[in-house]
Amino acid sequence: MVEKFLEGKGALITGGASGFGRGVAYAFAERGANVAIIDINEELLEETAKKVADKTGQKIIPIVCDVSKLDQVETMVKQAYQELENVYVLFNNAGIGIAYGKNICRLREEQWDKIMSVNLKGQWLVAKSLCRKIKAQKFDNDSLSGRIICNASLAGINLNPKLPAYSITKIGVIALAKLLSMTLAPRITVNSIAPGFHVTGIYKDSEEVIETVLKERNIQIPLNRIGTVEDVVDLVVFLASPASTYITGQCIPVGGGLAKQ
Ligand SMILES: NC(=O)c1ccc[n+]([C@@H]2O[C@H](COP(=O)([O-])OP(=O)(O)OC[C@H]3O[C@@H](n4cnc5c(N)ncnc54)[C@H](O)[C@@H]3O)[C@@H](O)[C@H]2O)c1
Repeated sequence: MVEKFLEGKGALITGGASGFGRGVAYAFAERGANVAIIDINEELLEETAKKVADKTGQKIIPIVCDVSKLDQVETMVKQAYQELENVYVLFNNAGIGIAYGKNICRLREEQWDKIMSVNLKGQWLVAKSLCRKIKAQKFDNDSLSGRIICNASLAGINLNPKLPAYSITKIGVIALAKLLSMTLAPRITVNSIAPGFHVTGIYKDSEEVIETVLKERNIQIPLNRIGTVEDVVDLVVFLASPASTYITGQCIPVGGGLAKQ
């Protein structure tokens, strides 16, 4: 039996149709939250929203939105507030990968622009459009008005010359979360997480794809297994919970011991 510490609270999850976002949508709804799940993939979004609602009995609002477009983000935030009344937790998670291999001198401009606009600008736009509303909320028995969790990556800690644009977006997300935490204290905690290698859409939902990547790059995971969606969900739930109200501005790796900090 899980503790329903999100009862009466709304949660907004970007990239919520698949992977970590979908896992966190289930976990937040199971803890009593009504959830807006945001994604660019309309078909998968509808399917996920229905499944989460059927399983948990919570109000689940699917909203199609490209997080890299300000007008779409502003419309999405308006709709989320109308439907949920408050947003206590933001899981700023939507992101894309890019083919491994091209070094920073060979990267093409359109690849740079695309990944920057989704992975970095997208998280900034969503946080910026929500933070004043979150700051203004009040909840009984809670000194905080909200929690923001930004999904970075171990690639933002262990910089990889063969993943230059992705690594730069993720080090940027770590900085974005730190800066937001300074601006939004003491009302909102803001932290980032840095997952390692987990079976999600980014790796075609396949352990084999990850095994090949690990082999190619000669990577040995100290805890000797590939990560799961649940490994990340557990950390996100902790960062949204009453157990973490004194933690802000931190980047927490969840990579089986791979982080070189
Ligand atoms: N899977 C891993 O091992 C891993 C490791 C480190 C970091 N991450 C990060 O985790 C986050 C989630 O990815 P995932 O691994 O769950 O993969 P995923 O592909 O399963 O999920 C990403 C979701 O984001 C959505 N999305 C993509 N572009 C969007 C946009 N412009 N607007 C709105 N939604 C958009 C996709 O449709 C998809 O549903 C990403 O930020 C990724 O960089 C993943």
